[in-house]
Amino acid sequence: MRFLRLLFLLFVIQTQAQQGGMWLPNLLSGMNEKEMKSLGMKMSASDIYDVNKSSLKDAVPHFNGGCTSEVISPKGLLLTNHHCGYGQIQDHSTVEHDYLTNGFWAYKMEDELPNKDLVVTFIVRIEDVTTKVLDGTQSLAEADKQKKIQDNIQSLSTSLPKESWQENRIRTFYEGNQYLLFVTETYKDVRLVGAPPSSIGKFGSDTDNWVWPRHTGDFSLFRIYADKNNRPAEYSKDNVPYTPKHFLPVSLDGVKENDFTMVFGYPGRTTEYLPAVAVEQILNDINPARIAVRDAALKVEDGFMRKDPAIKIQYASKYASIANYWKKWIGESQGLKKSNAVSVKKKQEADFTNRVNKAGKQAEYGTLLADFDKYYKEIAPYALGREYFLEIALRNTELLSVTYKMYQLEQIYNNKGEQSFNDRRKNLVDGLGDFYKDFNKTVDEKVFEQLIAIYSKNYPAQFLPSGLSNIDAAKLSADVYGQSKMTSLDGVRQLLSGDAQTTLANLNNDPAFKLVKEMADKYTKEIAPKYDELNLKITALQRSYMKAQLELNKDARIFPDANGTLRVTYGKVKGYEPKDATIYTPISYLDGVLEKYIPGDYEFDVPSKLIELHNKKDYGPYAENGKMPVCFIGTNHTTGGNSGSPAIDARGNLIGLNFDRVWEGTMSDVYYDPAICRNIMVDIRYVLFIIDKYAGAKNLISELKLVHPKKK
Ligand code: ARG
Ligand code: ASP
Repeated sequence: MRFLRLLFLLFVIQTQAQQGGMWLPNLLSGMNEKEMKSLGMKMSASDIYDVNKSSLKDAVPHFNGGCTSEVISPKGLLLTNHHCGYGQIQDHSTVEHDYLTNGFWAYKMEDELPNKDLVVTFIVRIEDVTTKVLDGTQSLAEADKQKKIQDNIQSLSTSLPKESWQENRIRTFYEGNQYLLFVTETYKDVRLVGAPPSSIGKFGSDTDNWVWPRHTGDFSLFRIYADKNNRPAEYSKDNVPYTPKHFLPVSLDGVKENDFTMVFGYPGRTTEYLPAVAVEQILNDINPARIAVRDAALKVEDGFMRKDPAIKIQYASKYASIANYWKKWIGESQGLKKSNAVSVKKKQEADFTNRVNKAGKQAEYGTLLADFDKYYKEIAPYALGREYFLEIALRNTELLSVTYKMYQLEQIYNNKGEQSFNDRRKNLVDGLGDFYKDFNKTVDEKVFEQLIAIYSKNYPAQFLPSGLSNIDAAKLSADVYGQSKMTSLDGVRQLLSGDAQTTLANLNNDPAFKLVKEMADKYTKEIAPKYDELNLKITALQRSYMKAQLELNKDARIFPDANGTLRVTYGKVKGYEPKDATIYTPISYLDGVLEKYIPGDYEFDVPSKLIELHNKKDYGPYAENGKMPVCFIGTNHTTGGNSGSPAIDARGNLIGLNFDRVWEGTMSDVYYDPAICRNIMVDIRYVLFIIDKYAGAKNLISELKLVHPKKK
């Protein structure tokens, strides 16, 4: 009997083992630790997170708020993705010193390049502060309740204990059912140390993005600098390399299928607990709108970038970021359809209703699902209008997005007066140089022409400004871009000079400003208030839906949605079947880079030095049976923000660098299907090979702690 129970338990653990999940590192002991050990982990939960001794978390800082990074040497050497350091690499690049194209390597510390506005943030400790945050909110109506919660968070952030160089950050989990405090330390002097050429770091570019098999060496290196006391400090040439509490040893032993892997990082945002009706809205309304807008913008930019190397540098980073989510949304929609996510959710909702009835909780939860239906239907036109406005005016047409800042400036004058206006104007003017450095009027005008036509045609008719129905897009573009002063730095400076009244009068005479004002007024008056009102209701529903699931489904694996906080996800190295009669194995090799090689192509060119190393099989100690591994995939549940996260073996050594997910599984932010959702990592031995054999940066290799855990 005991034996049978054990067998049953093992079976449950095994079948659940690949269900995904992004877990809080301070809450791993118990169910997660057991499961991780069953998958092969040889560490304990306190090796991963501990406040009293150094642990893995001390080596994993958030990289500039958007990516993850890890410390890999006692001198603060930091590893992240090439696409995470892309902005910095671009910033130091010119047509003469083109580090994007040719790579960059600091062979001495003096050559490392400082970066303005680049920070990394470590977690010192995590504490539950739910009771404190919800104090005095119980009997309030929803809007007042949210306001009181924000006030509490504000005052707790200053009153809760921390050192003077630390920050307190409070974040919500389980849709407002739990609040956690993160005490953090943010380092502000982070310098560029190394980057491979894009033909390695971005090999395959947009064609291979979100795709397996993959052959990208998506990494770059930075170094954290600190003051003499090892504390955060603004850039200074007197700063010294940071001494970490922990750094990751690097394994030379590689991976094979079914090895345990863990990915530790800062996943940005998931929505795994949406009702079916919300998933339908993503599929039918939101994703198609976003995809159509970006489709048009990307075609225009690509045309110019292929013809002009200067435009290529100006637009490379912007293009990559627009293309990235464009492609993700296409994959997401396909995956949601293929995995029948909507009907799976509907079935889960039927089960949920049964459970509510069984528990006699109809009064509390009985109308939840019907309410979701009602409010999602009501919000649909507002959500669609909002999406078009954001995508067209704020994200993909540069002239409109910079002009929108001027629109906000006018609002500030109207709402807060002249002093606030002057402060903001100064701020704006200071930032404009960076914007115009990469702005090309001709490119943006063509983008505008395409997108404003989509806006005129597809925007929900009841919200379309009257001047924008039935437009001649070519004529409108010629008018706006021909006459607006907003198309050049000098022009904007002129517009923004003089006293407040003069500036506002100038702005209101400018055709770009007039257009944006028409669009934005309509949006802020007719869409935003109603959207916010309905969204508040939906958020409250989502909160009780979560509460109900936590209460009524005690043994389910319910992890909090990603929210940019530190999480652990774990699984195994594993291939998958993308479609009928096709099997993908989990490891790719340098031979595959050469199979994809297209000489001179901007996505698939290969540097001659790499071809030479491949011909001579000059792989140093990094190859396996004469083959150089490049990437591998696993069942770790990751999302945007996990880029740059360390892939860690059973004993806490670095084996890879997370950077992407597979095409068939990009819907994992909404619905995780363990059969086809995989994360993609660069094999750490490929990183070492490029640093050592390709770049000859032995100085960096000698800082690392290289280990052979499998040979022990
Ligand atoms: N898809 C990955 C992520 O979401 C990688 C993006 C960078 N690579 C690219 N080709 N744009 O960030
Ligand atoms: N590429 C993503 C990132 O930048 C990771 C992902 O979405 O899987 O964070």
